[in-house]
Amino acid sequence: MKITGTTALVTGGNRGIGEGFVEELLAQDAARVYVGSRDMTEAEAVSALDPDRVVVVELDITEQVQVDAAATLANDITLLVNNAGVFHNTTLLGADDMTAMESEITVNYLGTMRMCRAFAPIIEANGGGAIVNVLSAGGIVAVPDMGGYSPSKFAMRAASDCLRAELAPKGVHVAALIVGSVETRMAEHIVGVHKEPPRAIAKAGLVAAKHSIGEHDTDSFAVGVRAQLHRDPSGLAAALAASVQQG
Ligand SMILES: NC(=O)c1ccc[n+]([C@@H]2O[C@H](COP(=O)([O-])OP(=O)(O)OC[C@H]3O[C@@H](n4cnc5c(N)ncnc54)[C@H](OP(=O)(O)O)[C@@H]3O)[C@@H](O)[C@H]2O)c1
Repeated sequence: MKITGTTALVTGGNRGIGEGFVEELLAQDAARVYVGSRDMTEAEAVSALDPDRVVVVELDITEQVQVDAAATLANDITLLVNNAGVFHNTTLLGADDMTAMESEITVNYLGTMRMCRAFAPIIEANGGGAIVNVLSAGGIVAVPDMGGYSPSKFAMRAASDCLRAELAPKGVHVAALIVGSVETRMAEHIVGVHKEPPRAIAKAGLVAAKHSIGEHDTDSFAVGVRAQLHRDPSGLAAALAASVQQG
C-alpha cells in the first residue's frame, strides 16, 4: 500500500511509539491521521502537529462502545496501527493478585483483537490496506520477570498470523512488528540497553505496511534477539530478564 494520501488510525497515539507513528505518517504525506487517546487532553500536543490532518478520537481499546464509535467516525481508513499497550512490571507469581496480568491480556491481546474485528471490514470496504500490530521481542522469546506481558504479546503474534491468512483474500495485509528497545515511558524499567527513538520504530512499521512484510524486526535490539533465539534461547531469556528492573 501507499502511505502518501492514506488515512490512518493510531491507537495510543498521544505519546511514545504511537506519537512517533503520527509524526511519521504526517511526514510521509498521509491525508488524515486519527489519533486514539484515552484522555483527549493528553493528545493536545499531537493534535497541534497539524490540526488540519490530525483528528483526535477518545479511544480506550478495551471499551467496545468506544471502539464502535471510533469505527463510525474513522470509517475512511485504509491503515490501522494497533500500538496501544501496557506493561505492568510485575512477576507472574510475585504479584499480589491477577490484576496486572489480566490488564496485559485485556489490553495487549483482547483490546487489539477488538480493534482488528471492528476495522478489518472497514479497510476491506475502502479497497484494502493494512493493519500494523505493534508487538515485541517479548512476543518471540518468553521473558521471565515480565509477568503477563510476554504471554500477551505471544498471543497477539499468533493471532496476527491467523488474521494475515484470513484477511489476505480481502486485500488487507497484517504486519506484526517485533519491537526491541525504545525510549518511552513503558521502557523506563529496562536498563543497560540502547533504546531507539520512537519515530525510528514508526518508520520501520510503515515499511512493513508499504511492502506487505508479515513479521518485521523494527530495530537492532529486536534483530539481535531473533538471532540469539536460535543460538542460545535460555541465555537470551536470562539476559532479558536481567534487564528488567522491578518496580
Ligand atoms: N518501549 C519499548 O521498548 C517497547 C518495546 C517493545 C514493544 N513495545 C510496544 O510498543 C507499544 C507502545 O508502547 P510505548 O513504548 O510507546 O509505551 P507508552 O509510552 O507507555 O505508551 C503506551 C500507549 O498506549 C496507550 N494505552 C494503554 N492502555 C490503553 C488502552 N486500554 N486503550 C487505548 N490506549 C491505551 C497509552 O495511553 P495513556 O497515555 O492514556 O496511558 C499510551 O498512549 C506497546 O504495544 C508496547 O508493548 C514497546
